[in-house]
Amino acid sequence: MAPEPELPYEIVNVSADEEKIIRKCLTGYTKPFVRCGKQGYVMPGAFRKHAEAIYNMEVRPDDVWVITFPRSGTTWTQELIWLVENELDFKTAKEKPLYERFPMLETTSQIPEIAFDLIKANFMNLKHFQGLNDAVRCPSHQLIDQAPSPRFIKTHLPLSLLPPSLLSTAKVVYVGRDPRDVAVSYYYLHKMVAKNMMRCNFVHFWEAFRRDLLPWTPIVAHTNEAWKQRHHPNLHLVFYEELIKDLPKEVRHICKFLGREYSDAEIQNLANHLSFDSLRKNKTVNNTVADNGVQFVRKGEAGGWREHFDDKMELQAEEFLEERLRGLDLRYPSIPMEEITHL
Ligand code: A3P
Repeated sequence: MAPEPELPYEIVNVSADEEKIIRKCLTGYTKPFVRCGKQGYVMPGAFRKHAEAIYNMEVRPDDVWVITFPRSGTTWTQELIWLVENELDFKTAKEKPLYERFPMLETTSQIPEIAFDLIKANFMNLKHFQGLNDAVRCPSHQLIDQAPSPRFIKTHLPLSLLPPSLLSTAKVVYVGRDPRDVAVSYYYLHKMVAKNMMRCNFVHFWEAFRRDLLPWTPIVAHTNEAWKQRHHPNLHLVFYEELIKDLPKEVRHICKFLGREYSDAEIQNLANHLSFDSLRKNKTVNNTVADNGVQFVRKGEAGGWREHFDDKMELQAEEFLEERLRGLDLRYPSIPMEEITHL
């Protein structure tokens, strides 16, 4: 067996019981899932092979990174940042898929082995998502490493698994979201991607989510890492709920952070382009691969979790938040502390 890569953090397999719960929700993976670092971030086993190269990759001063837990408004923010950084070039944005303009760092380790093999053998040419085909032929971090500047990089990896020079070198926007809405949205994403192969319902999925067993969890620790750096001049932290509440205002904040100036009319025009209805129709952004009606840009609401949680799950969610937030000063704009501290 090849030696483990040298990393300042440990990567260990999840326990057999944990593996069982994960596999109920996710299909196509054959390697055991792993936990990384002190917080135990869960990743597909293939991440072992790429972790070191990602941790040690070269960060460039003109990079702009978007870091999020999945389903927190990543795509929305990517499109926003790309346009702000490219003089509102709507024409190119309409022509070139977002995943090419703003590729994802860890795509390769995320592709289930079954899909990996099928794509490699050319049985499955995902025409709506050429990014996956590329990431099978060459590791996604390597493609990013070789890309010309300026680079726009998306990742769901938390700060502690990324290059330590990131914040002192490049600009980073972190987007957080209420974990309960993330859980629902994450479930629909898997339904969309796995199509009819998804064997679990939302109750199973929530069980795995609240036990921090799904890829990139634990979500609260993930967001807390960025929260702790929120005063760093190279990090801008925004919550999905704030984007929903006043998009033009948050666009202005991001422009200021990136050192870009636009008129009120231009900001409004950008906000119109970024509206839910507009992005949903936008083929270069809404890369929907499913034919079961679930779309990547799906509902676009804050608080929609209420429709998916019964009383028991709601209580579990309160307990989850109370436990994970205990001892942290991280606050979510959508979660009043009195809602969870009475427990
Ligand atoms: P829902 O599934 O709750 O609708 P990510 O890009 O990180 O995967 O996040 C996807 C979530 O962002 C989805 O949430 C999606 O609908 C939402 N989203 C994308 N574009 C949006 C927009 N313009 N306005 C509001 N929500 C948006």
